[in-house]
Amino acid sequence: MTDAASPTPAAPGYYERHIFFCLNERPNGEDCCALHGAKAGFDHCKRAVKAAGLAGQGQVRVNKAGCLDRCSAAPVCVVYPEGVWYSFIDEADIDEIVESHLKHGRIVERLLIPPTMGR
Ligand code: FES
Repeated sequence: MTDAASPTPAAPGYYERHIFFCLNERPNGEDCCALHGAKAGFDHCKRAVKAAGLAGQGQVRVNKAGCLDRCSAAPVCVVYPEGVWYSFIDEADIDEIVESHLKHGRIVERLLIPPTMGR
C-alpha cells in the first residue's frame, strides 16, 4: 500500500535518451525545417546511432516530430531527458551530437539554440 504523502518514485525510462527531429514541411512555401535539410539530418542520425550500437531499449531512440515551434533556428532537434535543443547544418554536426551527447551525455555547446529563438 502506497502512502499518499510519499513522492511517486521515478519510473525507469525505456530509453536512456530520445532525440526528436522536426521534419515539418509547410505546403504554402513558408520557411520550415524541411527546407533546411531536416530529413537528411534525421536519416543520418538514424544510421549513425545504429552504426554506433546505440539504438534500442535502454539506449537511444531517434524519432520524427512535427513542428516544435522553434522554426527560426531550423533545422532543429531536441534531446530528452535533458531537454537540450540543437540546430545543425551537416552530417558532421549530427555525428558530433551522436558521439558527444547521445553516447557520452556531453552537451555540444556550439550547436545549442539560443533560448530566445522561437518561431
Ligand atoms: S518547422 Fe521545424 S520547428 Fe517549426
